[in-house]
Amino acid sequence: MPDSAPGMEAIEVIYTAESIADRIAVLAEGIAALKLDRLLVVPILTGSFVFAGDLLRGLHRAGLAPEVDFLSVSSYRDGTKSVGKVDILRDLKLDVAGRNVLVIDDILDTGRTLAFAKDLIAARGAAQVVTCVLLDKKTRRAVAIEADYVAFECPPVFVVGYGMDLASRFRELPFVGRIVG
Ligand code: IMP
Ligand code: MG
Repeated sequence: MPDSAPGMEAIEVIYTAESIADRIAVLAEGIAALKLDRLLVVPILTGSFVFAGDLLRGLHRAGLAPEVDFLSVSSYRDGTKSVGKVDILRDLKLDVAGRNVLVIDDILDTGRTLAFAKDLIAARGAAQVVTCVLLDKKTRRAVAIEADYVAFECPPVFVVGYGMDLASRFRELPFVGRIVG
């Protein structure tokens, strides 16, 4: 169903706010069942901030009390295409050595961003690095990586909303959709 708020292109909803909330509750229970002590949650900014906020509260409801620190990376993209280089824009403030870390990202696409973050945190001596993404575009991988927890497998289309942007727009949408007009 296209959403046509004023000043906005038509967006076709792919994952509703309700279906996202349902998946988050399931993921949070699964992560809680790992019984990871001293859990540190690391959202990869910027695209994961909405998902991470909801998943964090889901983890609380599942009985966890994690700490949170943010990693901001730029995976260079030419428009909507990844060009392969990943840089740290904002590093973690906390020491990950010996800790269990849950890395959260919005989309697993070529895999470069998640692989970079996972390798970085492992190289700093984390006890365990668990990964969770909202969307997995399985057919687009350039590096071999799978996420431990995935909310939805996603078709290979460019999506926006629920934190994800096109040129800094559409992050505020409560659902995931694609631009159709
Ligand atoms: P990867 O490094 O190619 O796996 O890209 C992952 C990053 O690219 C994600 O963290 C997103 O920020 C961004 N990205 C990939 N696909 C999309 C999309 O369809 N919409 C918005 N951002 C995307
Ligand atoms: Mg991102």
